[in-house]
Amino acid sequence: QTGAITLDPGYKNTGACESAITFLDGEKGILRYRGYSIEELAEKADFLEVCYLLIFGELPNKSQLQKFNTDILDQSIVNEDMKTVLNGFPESAHPMGVLSSLTSALTAFNPKSVNVESEEDMYRAIVKILAKFPVLAAWTLRQKKSQALYNKDMNIGYVESLLKMMFQEGKTYKLNKKVVNALDKLLILHADHEQNCSTSTVRIVGSSHAGLFASISAGVSALWGPLHGGANQAVIEMLEEIKADGGDTSKFIAKAKDKDDPFRLMGFGHRVYKNFDPRAKIIKKAADEVLEQLGVEDPILEIAKGLEKAALEDEYFIERKLYPNVDFYSGIIYRAMGIPTEMFTVMFAVGRLPGWIAQWREMRLRKEPIGRPRQVYIGENHRKFKEIENR
Ligand code: SDX
Repeated sequence: QTGAITLDPGYKNTGACESAITFLDGEKGILRYRGYSIEELAEKADFLEVCYLLIFGELPNKSQLQKFNTDILDQSIVNEDMKTVLNGFPESAHPMGVLSSLTSALTAFNPKSVNVESEEDMYRAIVKILAKFPVLAAWTLRQKKSQALYNKDMNIGYVESLLKMMFQEGKTYKLNKKVVNALDKLLILHADHEQNCSTSTVRIVGSSHAGLFASISAGVSALWGPLHGGANQAVIEMLEEIKADGGDTSKFIAKAKDKDDPFRLMGFGHRVYKNFDPRAKIIKKAADEVLEQLGVEDPILEIAKGLEKAALEDEYFIERKLYPNVDFYSGIIYRAMGIPTEMFTVMFAVGRLPGWIAQWREMRLRKEPIGRPRQVYIGENHRKFKEIENR
């Protein structure tokens, strides 16, 4: 500590703000959105209800949910000119980079900045991003021509239409209710998680009074990293590698423990949870159910369970209280649904969108100061300029 500055790399022991949105207890493995337990919400609510709850603070009644639904429907057309941004990317571009750019480009087509003091203005911007973001997410698959988030005559819901846009453009759409329910539950489980890396990014970008869409775009970029949301893709790639290597998990556990080896067990560990991540428990149970319902035999689910068991019995992991996190099993379900691996983190972003919106809105309504941490300087002392001839 030098003077008044307390060094806290990664903000491990720093509270950046007060918030009334999500409560985590890392020791007990508790997660609540606006006071409701994640277990109850995953069981009894649907994703759009949870979006409303996180953003406006209360569960919607029937007419509020109906209006929210309709207002999103009315905003679900994305400006055709946005396709010029999309088509500028090579096929090889990662969908998260495309999604971050498309989200930022939304500002170009919706230039009017949000007056946060006006409920109406704020509501309009919230509905707009909730409606257009899943369309942009589906576009990152790039075969998509679909503009409408909802299909009025099919009267399908938010999550169903996301699946329709991603997979069944144009074909007669046979809706698999089990897939829709599983995805709806997954999106609820990803919806908010207090001051994680991407949410803190959305808050700090928004604290300069940058717009909501620009702040969300920054959150997408932060989520992309394999230490954060990108882990759900990295877990599957790791499990595939273990399978290709004959399924022996002990080698990978040893690698993860080896300080000279940068390899980490993806989907394991958490900054806050020093117990089971409550979301991982629900997703692990759902993985068995969904694969059985879909009649999918996926050997990497057994490899994942074997890896979890081996790690939980290893004193390196026990000592450091490293448990499976939200990303450990989620990819197995996305895979069973036929979602391409490189789209897993895009699904995380669609789920996390209401949390980002709720946290950005809270930060602005509470008039939080601009985020500007200090540092401890360890560079050169003052020195005289040297002419180039003397260097
Ligand atoms: C998410 O913050 C959130 O809430 C995030 C999230 C959300 O909903 O927004 O929950 C979503 O991002 C989940 C995390 C997904 N990331 C991964 O699965 C990547 C693998 N996990 C790690 O990289 C790590 O556990 C983090 C990034 C999740 C947490 O890192 P921390 O809190 O900075 O912990 P650390 O790196 O200081 O690790 C503490 C010790 C270290 O060993 P020592 O130096 O004490 O000997 O534990 C070790 C680490 O080496 N360790 C691991 C490990 N995770 C931590 N060793 C092997 N494999 C791992 N996965």
